[in-house]
Amino acid sequence: MNVRIRGRLRAFRTVTFDARRNAVRLIEQRWLPHRFEVVATRDFRETAAAIREMTVRGAGAIGATAAYGFAQGLRSFRGSDLARFETHAERVFQVLAEARPTAVDPVNAMLGVRNVVQGGRTVSERQELALSAAEAFADEDVRHCREIGEQGCHLIRDGTRVLTHCNAGWLAFVDYGSATAPLYAAQAAGRKFHVFCDETRPRSQGAALTAWELAQQGVSHQVIADNAAGHLMQRGEIDLVIVGADRVLGRTGEVANKIGTYTKAVLARRHRLPFYVAIPLSTLDWNLKSGAEIPIEERPDSEVLGAWGCASDGKRTYVRVANPTSGGRNPGFDVTPAELITGILTPVGIFRPNELWKKRVVLGHAAR
Ligand code: MRU
Repeated sequence: MNVRIRGRLRAFRTVTFDARRNAVRLIEQRWLPHRFEVVATRDFRETAAAIREMTVRGAGAIGATAAYGFAQGLRSFRGSDLARFETHAERVFQVLAEARPTAVDPVNAMLGVRNVVQGGRTVSERQELALSAAEAFADEDVRHCREIGEQGCHLIRDGTRVLTHCNAGWLAFVDYGSATAPLYAAQAAGRKFHVFCDETRPRSQGAALTAWELAQQGVSHQVIADNAAGHLMQRGEIDLVIVGADRVLGRTGEVANKIGTYTKAVLARRHRLPFYVAIPLSTLDWNLKSGAEIPIEERPDSEVLGAWGCASDGKRTYVRVANPTSGGRNPGFDVTPAELITGILTPVGIFRPNELWKKRVVLGHAAR
């Protein structure tokens, strides 16, 4: 998407690969919206650290980063011994897969790359195939998000007031975003609408990232406190909720997404508002049988006990908010049951959560 830097508009992808330097290039999301910077990771361990420390975050974006990081790791192997190459590949896979546990996209992305790589007869063939498969995953992510926009555009009419949670925008993917794609499609169709961005404590992805993105694209929006949505729904000021997801269970329709999503789904049901979850196909998990099995990332309590922001001197600063002697608890995600979800918005159509398994072929299960 376009970013205005010093008055000039430039198109960026969240994640790209520099083949000459064997480096993954990432928009440094921790500084946004205060500073726009692209950083490079020089080996797969640095790439895993960038995922873990949230230089890059969001399910699709960390999926593409893992795919590139996997290719980066394979390309750094020296020698021609295939058995040693495979042992090395397994280690690279594990390091990247363990960087963040809840989103399934990194594992799906790397499994896709690994399948393609098996077709190579020599180490150098496999290294080449790895990079083209990682590029293909990133391109597919872009295409899927654009198609989500086409499938969901009709949901946004003139005057629609949309609530979204966290950041499932283009920064969370390679481009366009999932939850934001229908908004950008509706904007391109000339419709006027308004978006409420949940601030999304504790890391404030809504206030910092979604609001920045929407501002860059010229979409009318306001940031609201996480606790304000119920009040706005009760007063009839929200028409529709669209969120992204980090893992959607193909067998049950349960959705893992940023902490607070479940609360919003309960509120939406109380107020009879449609609640949509927008995902590319890489967010589908066809294996797990219950939402209770989804690994929920527990993050440092310092995120809850304080907040990051920008001080008046322009420096990014952490301030302690909570009582100094108190500890905290910080689960990063929650699971929304299928019955609270109106539809799963995918590149190939909108489905009720409980019909995903029946539609698994069209949703790409057999192909993966
Ligand atoms: O912890 P994050 O920022 O990586 O969380 C991921 C998310 O941004 C959200 O859960 C989002 O709604 C889904 S990712 C497209």
